Amino acid sequence: MFATIIMQRNCRNWRLDNGACCCVGLKTMDEQENTSSNPRIGSGVRTISDLIEVRLSRRTFVAGLGASAVLPVAACSPTEETPVEVAKSAVFDFPEITRGLDGMHHVAEGYRADILLRWGDPLFADSPAFDPFAQTAEAQERQFGYNNDYVGYWPLEETEGGRGRGLLCVNHEYTSTPLMFPGLAGRKPTGEECAVELAAHGGTVVEIKQGADGLWETVVASPYNRRITAGSTPMELTGPVAGDPRVQTSEDPSGRRVMGTMNNCAGGITPWGTYLMAEENFNGNFLGSLEGGHPETESYARYGIPGGWYNWGVFVDRFDVSKEPNEPNRFGWVVEVDILDPQSTPKKRTALGRFKHEGAESIIAPDGRVVVYMGDDQRFDYVYKYVSTQVYTLDDREANMDLLEDGTLYVARFDDDGTVVWLPLIFGEGPLTPENGFQSQADVLIDTRLAADAVGATPMDRPEDVEPHPTNGRVYVMLTNNIDRTADQIDAANPRANNDVGHIIEIIEPEGDFAATESRWEILVRCGDPTDPEAGATWNSATSENGWFGSPDNCAIDPSGRLWVSTDGNQVTGAADGLWALATDGEERGAGQAFFRTPVGAELCGPRFTKDGKSLFLAVQHPGDGDDATFEAPMTRWPDFAEGQPPRPSVMVIRRNDGGTIGS
Ligand code: FEO
Ligand code: CA
Ligand code: CA
Ligand code: CA
Repeated sequence: MFATIIMQRNCRNWRLDNGACCCVGLKTMDEQENTSSNPRIGSGVRTISDLIEVRLSRRTFVAGLGASAVLPVAACSPTEETPVEVAKSAVFDFPEITRGLDGMHHVAEGYRADILLRWGDPLFADSPAFDPFAQTAEAQERQFGYNNDYVGYWPLEETEGGRGRGLLCVNHEYTSTPLMFPGLAGRKPTGEECAVELAAHGGTVVEIKQGADGLWETVVASPYNRRITAGSTPMELTGPVAGDPRVQTSEDPSGRRVMGTMNNCAGGITPWGTYLMAEENFNGNFLGSLEGGHPETESYARYGIPGGWYNWGVFVDRFDVSKEPNEPNRFGWVVEVDILDPQSTPKKRTALGRFKHEGAESIIAPDGRVVVYMGDDQRFDYVYKYVSTQVYTLDDREANMDLLEDGTLYVARFDDDGTVVWLPLIFGEGPLTPENGFQSQADVLIDTRLAADAVGATPMDRPEDVEPHPTNGRVYVMLTNNIDRTADQIDAANPRANNDVGHIIEIIEPEGDFAATESRWEILVRCGDPTDPEAGATWNSATSENGWFGSPDNCAIDPSGRLWVSTDGNQVTGAADGLWALATDGEERGAGQAFFRTPVGAELCGPRFTKDGKSLFLAVQHPGDGDDATFEAPMTRWPDFAEGQPPRPSVMVIRRNDGGTIGS
């Protein structure tokens, strides 16, 4: 079972009848993220002899724990959670759940976890009922999409009695083709199935409201509700790249109008109430090949284009690079959506760079400029921040709507002495000149990775979420894993070879100045099993046998300023992915505490707290997926457990049974 779980992380796409991936001879999603395309790797970017001093977090240390309890995969039905006693935490107060892996979700005792939205749920008065045996693109365009990832929440005016009401913004990262469609064995997806997939990517904006009992429900037919998809939502390309010849296509000679967004992983809600959708593994959706000597050859190689993971290019010319070689340059951006105007055209903000964007969390610097933190999720890729040129205007939404149009993009160099140097990516500065292949700022941004290579950024262990803390001036960087790092490639910020469980870095911005060009960093925790000396984990000794984890991916800061981390890949440790509370201050700094875990096959995304700290939204992504999992034979039929029906990625809402503050 353990081996199966490890293998399932490497294949989330449809398969041929022999069980091979659709992309025989090519790489699937996690394999792509897990494979570096950074040409600096292997050429001795940094070696062990370069290390001046390997910095260890000064307040963390390995905990001595008993053996972990790994539960077998159980039948696909709800199971009762047995609370375990943990030492009283000064930071978090809830009974931990136990480590384990089965077909059901589990939440800490005293809490309830309710399904809010499932793949296929209606969003509009005319949405057809979910019928996985008769899927059409038209229906999917009117229903909640697949593989929910980022969850944002923007409050609207409260309803009577102070009950919450607001807009939930949810990204749909990708489609797990073998789990979505029946009867796929022995054949490739049809044109209609590919059209359904295009409609299942993107995002959803949906109004939700709280009842008298504190529980949440969707407001079907709210005028705010909107599906944003890869197949049907026109977008405007804005910023320095707009109109550039490298983004012009036969469908769009202007280079300013793109159809759709896709692979929307994490994201952000800006202080002025727009929704940022990060485009991550866009490369995988393209088929075909470039003719020899094509000018995009080097750029394509750095992004892994074309990935060939999907069949779309067979039916839609723009996904075949032989026919439309510039189409991939129109993806890999951060999209900004005005959620208060459902008729608005989403804008691809090219000033924020082009890479496999994991998320885009923003904050206002003391001088009023907006700062957006971003990770590029692939082994040996980089951490970025964007700093706007103009300043934020309080209580004037209109004045802030183009703050992401003009600014400076920086990439991080993590020095071994604990300094972060933010290196600007500006055409004409340093190596970003015509002699090195950059003719304009548009080139620098289309080839953000090549520009970051050139200025000497630090290759990291797969950066996922990067989250600024709203009050303490720190920033948390989730580094999910990198088993390709060899002993001679370790550095102080990526201190382990064969890092299969990841670590979390804390950036300390000087005096809370998020726009600073020089910061400090330290490692908050090296993840993994603290009982295994080989693992090199560094948890606070207050961490119980359930409180440690691997593969941090998304995170959230709750209204009390406490950090919560969700995982994607903890199954390599033999237990489910889930949500952990993680102390960042005081004597418990570096202590984890297990709160929620997913059903087998899933990773956990979101997480998002409401401002009162009493509701928590979680996104359970790809439940039931596995190396040989199909629509007919998933690893779980969560959450409906209906015979013959597939599992459904779903957003859940967590509440304390007594309505109190979560985690306190
Ligand atoms: Fe889509 Fe980096 O996880
Ligand atoms: Ca994901
Ligand atoms: Ca992620
Ligand atoms: Ca991930």
